[in-house]
Amino acid sequence: MPEQLPEQLREKVQQLALDYQQQGKPTEWFESLYQQAQGDPAQIPWAKLSPHPILQDWLDQSQISGQGKTALVIGCGLGDDAEILSDLGYQVTAFDISETAINWCRQRFPNSKVNYVVADLLALDPNWKGNFNFVFECRTIQSLPLNLREKAISAIAQLVAPKGTLIVITGFRETEDPPKGPPWPLSEVELSLFKAFNLEEVKRISFTVPQSEALHQLRLEYLKQ
Ligand SMILES: C[S@@+](CC[C@H](N)C(=O)[O-])C[C@H]1O[C@@H](n2cnc3c(N)ncnc32)[C@H](O)[C@@H]1O
Repeated sequence: MPEQLPEQLREKVQQLALDYQQQGKPTEWFESLYQQAQGDPAQIPWAKLSPHPILQDWLDQSQISGQGKTALVIGCGLGDDAEILSDLGYQVTAFDISETAINWCRQRFPNSKVNYVVADLLALDPNWKGNFNFVFECRTIQSLPLNLREKAISAIAQLVAPKGTLIVITGFRETEDPPKGPPWPLSEVELSLFKAFNLEEVKRISFTVPQSEALHQLRLEYLKQ
């Protein structure tokens, strides 16, 4: 596959997402992108092949142990964040809407203890509600258009067990005006939707990623009451 510059890849991905959105299928472009990549992670703009450094930073600071606890990774992509949580002792479930991505995870980590599952955040098994001590959401909500935001946030919020922790990593926009995307960074009003599900915001940090599509990013830590 010919090498693409990051800017070219980003434009290709944005066009793919918008084409599917116009066809009324806003979550189906992910599978198409993973299939087109044919196993080459350079074709997946968010693939780092390592855990997200801002998740790693939180795990290092909190010195948390996952022994005897469950964790869930939303829109897990190629699986690196799920694997680091598994290494800490969590019993991890990681899901993605893309079957190709999930098969890719299984190939990358053949001896993994992670339960990799194909599932749609917008149509999850109701038995998952309240079942996870630790939930990690990284950049899935921002990859969905604004009209799906409330549904996506409500689905994520309901997965967290009482006294459980939710970590969200996302692009952030300072205004409530609709952004041009994808990605579509989250606003303060959108983030406040988590509070309606008894999730208290404990801490947030801002950070920027050079050359990232969404320059201003947040890591938010929530505690379920
Ligand atoms: C921008 S990528 C981020 C992947 C990964 N979380 C990361 O940060 O590297 C968004 C991921 O969410 C998945 N996704 C999008 N919509 C989804 C949905 N409705 N249910 C489950 N996964 C979804 C995509 O297939 C993709 O892997």
